[in-house]
Amino acid sequence: MNKTKILGIGGSPRKNGNTDILLDEFLKGAESAGAETKKVLLRDYSIEACIGCESCRKDGTCMQFHDGMQVLYPEIQTSKGLIVGSPTYNYNITSSMKSFIDRLYPYYNFTDDRPRHYSSKLANQGRKAIVFSVCEQADVRDMGFALEALEMPLDALGYEVTAKLPFTGYFDRGSVSKDTGVLKKAFEAGKRLAVSLR
Ligand SMILES: Cc1cc2nc3c(=O)[nH]c(=O)nc-3n(C[C@H](O)[C@H](O)[C@H](O)COP(=O)(O)O)c2cc1C
Repeated sequence: MNKTKILGIGGSPRKNGNTDILLDEFLKGAESAGAETKKVLLRDYSIEACIGCESCRKDGTCMQFHDGMQVLYPEIQTSKGLIVGSPTYNYNITSSMKSFIDRLYPYYNFTDDRPRHYSSKLANQGRKAIVFSVCEQADVRDMGFALEALEMPLDALGYEVTAKLPFTGYFDRGSVSKDTGVLKKAFEAGKRLAVSLR
């Protein structure tokens, strides 16, 4: 029997930072429940920003750029689960995470009526996702729109977002690693996702 594949996607430019550490815990939890996992740190990929050429509507994929997304599209398609995390930057996600999400646009099918309706090539396949963000301030309001900026596009693409987790109060690189309770929370959430995808 094939293992369920879960793809972890981290949007921090900072190596060994809080997002990296939490993403590792989520993935360890998923592995503990038998999932096959893969980690993608967006800073290791060159990802152009979508230029809105709309050519993917007829091509069905992005032919505009031959960049890191061409490696990531097959990974997304073959992964039933996604764990997507970004540090909060100015109440929002990082620019690399935004570019990545915008480049998921080829997964939409658009109709020609007005206003245009759309469906997703990834919908109705039992796909599920966890989203999380990490920020410096203790008050979750200082996370701004980061969690919604991750959740709403994934929801539109046909993922059931089963957990939306804010991690507040972490500023220094890796400071989250001292908080074993929080690491356990991430581990358990990853495990639950894997179990729910079995
Ligand atoms: C450009 C920039 C903008 C930031 N904006 C916010 C913010 O709006 N709210 C907040 O609480 N923390 C903010 N922070 C702090 C980071 O979210 C925090 O340091 C986080 O732990 C970084 O995660 P990382 O270690 O995974 O990169 C910002 C940091 C940077 C560098």
